[in-house]
This record gives sequence, structure tokens and C-alpha cells, in this order.
Amino acid sequence: MKGVILAGGNGTRLMPLTHVTNKSLLPVYDRPMIYYPLELMAAAGIDEVMIVTGGKTCGDMIRVLNDGSQFGLKSLYYTVQEKAGGISQALSLAESFAGGEEIFVMLGDNLIFGHNAAETVRNFAVQPVGAKVFLQPVADPERFGIAELREHRILSIEEKPRHPKSNLAVTGLYLYDRSVFDKIRTLKPSARGELEVTDLNKRYLEAGELGYEMLSGDWIDAGTFDSMLEASKMAKRHADNNTISRHSSLAVAA
Ligand code: G1P
Repeated sequence: MKGVILAGGNGTRLMPLTHVTNKSLLPVYDRPMIYYPLELMAAAGIDEVMIVTGGKTCGDMIRVLNDGSQFGLKSLYYTVQEKAGGISQALSLAESFAGGEEIFVMLGDNLIFGHNAAETVRNFAVQPVGAKVFLQPVADPERFGIAELREHRILSIEEKPRHPKSNLAVTGLYLYDRSVFDKIRTLKPSARGELEVTDLNKRYLEAGELGYEMLSGDWIDAGTFDSMLEASKMAKRHADNNTISRHSSLAVAA
């Protein structure tokens, strides 16, 4: 399985910070935002990753991430999304990189802590076809793709609904089989002129091929000023907990 991180867009919601650099390189606690999804992929055992980036400052990405070896990756590829055409359009640019394999996709502004991504990858490898999304309850469902469940199946998904049918957000972690690029080709731009990831997931839902897991651990979309601040606090909490547990296991070992 290969990894794709979507880090395009103009970052208009984070102006003027995004005049300085690409949104995914902005600091979240002690590292650039995109380190978190990259570290999660590496922890999941994925060692070939493509970053889809864009905007005036996308060159910064190569300067910061280089060949990806600091994350233990075998290779890191980059491609450029010329115009902000939506998440599914960005993903379509990874078709030749994917080379017919399944892909593990993450949004570059999504941070996940305490989720066993390696197990997620192992579970998907035994699933023959389809896609999987990861859900977590939120207090502000109007901000996200929202899934409605019935009897442990997804009944509907809506992008940023005005009247949400549940509080279960579709997080920015997706697993897709090789049919993903054919499905993207069938999408039409939404009212805001983008190829939406929710419309892609709906194609899988219509085909009866969309699975889900509840996301264990903490998740945050760091795409606004307030959520970026929250993301820093969350990252610090997890870094502190890891230090404490590392220190206590060293004390036990001694
Ligand atoms: C995107 C997706 C949305 C998803 C969210 C997760 O929204 O369109 O379905 O729930 O990411 O972070 P955006 O943050 O780009 O508005």
C-alpha cells in the first residue's frame, strides 16, 4: 500500500499566515503540521509516499521534507496541484504513482494521535474491494463531511450539512482500492466548483463498497486559527504523555 498526503490549496482560511509558507508547513506545537500525517504513515509501515501540494509557496515543501528519509521513508514524491480543484482532484494526480495499488490517503492538515494505523492497514489488506472511512463524533458537524449510520452500515454521507443527520464526522484519513481513480473520473464539480472527497466516498457507498471504523484516539483538523491552536495543545499533551511513559518505562528497566 502506498501513501498520499493532500497538501494543496491556497490556505485562504489561514491568511496571512499562509503568505509566509504553505499551510501544511505552519507550526503545530514543536513541528510543521505535515510531520504528523507523515509520521502516522511511517508508523503504519508505509514507506512510499506522494505529497500533492500547490500554491505559491509549495517549493518550501521540498526544502523542509527533502527525500523523506528523516521519517524512515524509502521514497518521497511530490506533485503540484495547479489550481485548488478540491480533494478528489488533488488525489487524481497520484494515479501513476499509485500504480494500481491500494492507497492510504491523509489530508495534510489532519492530526491523529493514539490510533493504531498499522492495524488499520493490515485490516484493509484482507478486504478485497472498496474504501474505508474513519469516523469520530464532533461538536460542530456543520464543518465536516457527516456520516449517518444504521445497523453498523453507512446510510448517507453529506458534506458540511446545514442540518446534520448525526454528529459523526468523516475524518481526513481514507483507504481506497484501485478503482478510486476511475471513480474520480465520474465526479462532477460541486456548487463551489470542486471535486469533493465526499462525492467520491458516495460513489463507493452507491456501489455498496464503503466500510468504516470509529477512529480511536484523538483527531483534529488544524485548518482554522482556533483548531490550529487546539492542535498544538493536543500535540503537546501527547508529546508530554509519551515522555512520561518513556521515563517511567526507563525507571522500570533500571
Ligand atoms: C475536508 C472534507 C470533509 C472532512 C474534513 C476532515 O473538509 O471535505 O469531508 O470531514 O476535510 O478534516 P475541509 O477541512 O477541507 O473543509
